[in-house]
Amino acid sequence: METYVLTINGTNLHVTASPDESLLSVLRDRLDLTGTKYGCGEGQCAACTVLLDGKPIHSCLTPVSAAATKNITTIEGLETNGTLSPVQQAFVEEGAFQCGYCTSGMVLRATALLRETPHPTEDQIVTYMNGNICRCGVYPRILAAVQRASGSPAKAGGQ
Ligand code: FES
Ligand code: FES
Repeated sequence: METYVLTINGTNLHVTASPDESLLSVLRDRLDLTGTKYGCGEGQCAACTVLLDGKPIHSCLTPVSAAATKNITTIEGLETNGTLSPVQQAFVEEGAFQCGYCTSGMVLRATALLRETPHPTEDQIVTYMNGNICRCGVYPRILAAVQRASGSPAKAGGQ
């Protein structure tokens, strides 16, 4: 076991874990940051997405040792003093979730997209979000939410 200082949502947190323990496990089971979801555990669904230095990664496949020197952003870190981030707010306004299991991963990936490309085309959104799976199939609403957050007019008629 090793002791790591993880910078999570701007706060340094100490955690003791095995170097190969997944970041997902550390977040959920050791730090009680349960907004990050366990889906497949195999890199296939992206429910476990967090940002490392602003880049979306699968926390289920990332050992905690690889995250120790990076800035980690989880869904808990997006709001500011109780105010949702623009992407979170757009997801609420578009009703872009059903069960909500994929939502934190979707929101974080969309956040990374809009930081890289503030006004993406529909094709750019679909391509960037492609690896994030929604078993409830609310993709049209998710697309509309990302468009809303980008300031583009959302298409009517989402699921
Ligand atoms: S839980 Fe990490 S990709 Fe599915
Ligand atoms: S809202 Fe249920 S998995 Fe996406």
